[in-house]
Amino acid sequence: MEESKIVQYFEGKTIFITGATGYLAKIFLEKILRVQPKLKKLFLLIRAEDKRSAEQRLHEEVLNTELFRVLKEKYGADLCPFLLSKIIPVCGDVSYENLGISDSKLREEMWQEVDIIVNSAATTRFDERYILFGVGQFIFQEFPHELNNDMNYL
Ligand SMILES: NC(=O)c1ccc[n+]([C@@H]2O[C@H](COP(=O)([O-])OP(=O)(O)OC[C@H]3O[C@@H](n4cnc5c(N)ncnc54)[C@H](OP(=O)(O)O)[C@@H]3O)[C@@H](O)[C@H]2O)c1
Repeated sequence: MEESKIVQYFEGKTIFITGATGYLAKIFLEKILRVQPKLKKLFLLIRAEDKRSAEQRLHEEVLNTELFRVLKEKYGADLCPFLLSKIIPVCGDVSYENLGISDSKLREEMWQEVDIIVNSAATTRFDERYILFGVGQFIFQEFPHELNNDMNYL
């Protein structure tokens, strides 16, 4: 597929990314924000105690890294409002029921709005128990909205 068609495909789409603090997800996040600023929304699943800690991890481990330098140069002072308008950090853990997202209102909003799921949550420690090691693989999946009430879909 031509690159321009791929970029166009993401216009107006809402994407749910798990493993958002990880290597691959960060690269995907930076690229999609850079090449398709007209995407609608990004829900980023982050393991954290609460929303505030999730926001803190997002800033410290993702947005304030060298990877986002080009976006900073491109947007300057407008970067912060741009990111705030697109990104919603979500506190959760894929090994729990409902992905550990305790806020039912937020869950409902996500399940109504998400078009694409990028599952990048994984434990990549080779000394981890096998059952945990198998938790994730990098998966790109269009989300069928008719399944949006089935929280076990993932
Ligand atoms: N890196 C590559 O070159 C490559 C190539 C092909 C395929 N893959 C596959 O792509 C996936 C991601 O790889 P990666 O290199 O990006 O891994 P990574 O840097 O280790 O990132 C893993 C991410 O998953 C999160 N995570 C772990 N357990 C979780 C849980 N229970 N709930 C929610 N989030 C959880 C981690 O969060 P914390 O920060 O909280 O630990 C982290 O954000 C893996 O399945 C890997 O096998 C990677």
